[in-house]
Amino acid sequence: MPSKPTLWITRRLSDATLERASRDYDVIINREDGTFTADEIIAMSSQVDAILPCHSELFNADVAAKLDARVRIIANHSVGVDHCDLPALKTRGITVTNTPDVLSDATAEIAMLLLLGAARRAVEGDRLMRTGAWDFWSPSFMVGKQVSGARLGIVGMGRVGQVMARRARGFDMDVHYYNRSRLPAELEQGATYHDTVEDLMGVADFLSLHCPATSETTGLIDKDMLARLPDGAILVNTARGALIDESALVAAITSGKLSAAGLDCFQTEPGGNPAFAAHENIFMLPHIGSATTQTRDAMGFRALDNLDAFFAGDTPNDQL
Ligand code: DGY
Repeated sequence: MPSKPTLWITRRLSDATLERASRDYDVIINREDGTFTADEIIAMSSQVDAILPCHSELFNADVAAKLDARVRIIANHSVGVDHCDLPALKTRGITVTNTPDVLSDATAEIAMLLLLGAARRAVEGDRLMRTGAWDFWSPSFMVGKQVSGARLGIVGMGRVGQVMARRARGFDMDVHYYNRSRLPAELEQGATYHDTVEDLMGVADFLSLHCPATSETTGLIDKDMLARLPDGAILVNTARGALIDESALVAAITSGKLSAAGLDCFQTEPGGNPAFAAHENIFMLPHIGSATTQTRDAMGFRALDNLDAFFAGDTPNDQL
């Protein structure tokens, strides 16, 4: 029997994923679940045929250039691949895959949670209850922003953006979007298309980001872009921290230009931005958009499906 390929799984994936991977591959599993430096990734690469990493492992041009020739595929356990320099990996002849589709529902759920929590002052209300500081009620107490009937601007109407639009319609929101290309009517579902992000900003009472972080979208939501939003708008980010100029966001929150924000992604991860913590109208979560049991299994299985196809000599479904 031919020997199984050696697969390095860089993080603690779901039990079902690890069980299937251990059945089909000679696995090296990072059960301690720590992260790896570039040097550690490069050193490990001579021992493995394939790597199953998360967005926490960086494969920049330097790492790509130094990976051992033994590595043939990087099967990411993520839809986002901004941690991978795709051209550099391609130059090395390394196949790269991701895990689209399977995390769209879970991520849109977190985006909706952030949108609602930011709109209805969840951080402040929770703090009042927990600290025993709730000693007052009046019709003018903790008044938030109504979601139903408001306009939601979606930047990036891919898979997650489309699920977000469906969820928002359930809350009677009026959906507007920007995408590199307009969607066909059956996918658009009545949403209003804007052919520039700038144009979308002008109507977005709520703005939710669902585009990948690329050289074109890094810092997209900056001071000028925020200034275009209606006064009191709410910004939601479940995509990548790199999309937002975080100093501009703090300034917009401080000035009241934004009435609130809901963030699951930060420029520095883990850790986030300590400057945000002073503002109770910024509702924050620690990058858990896809963190449900069902979705973690689905992501792991999708990455393994890609590996199985590759080692069977086929083109993986999610080859980039
Ligand atoms: C993704 O899949 O890109 C999520 O951010 C989790 O890594």
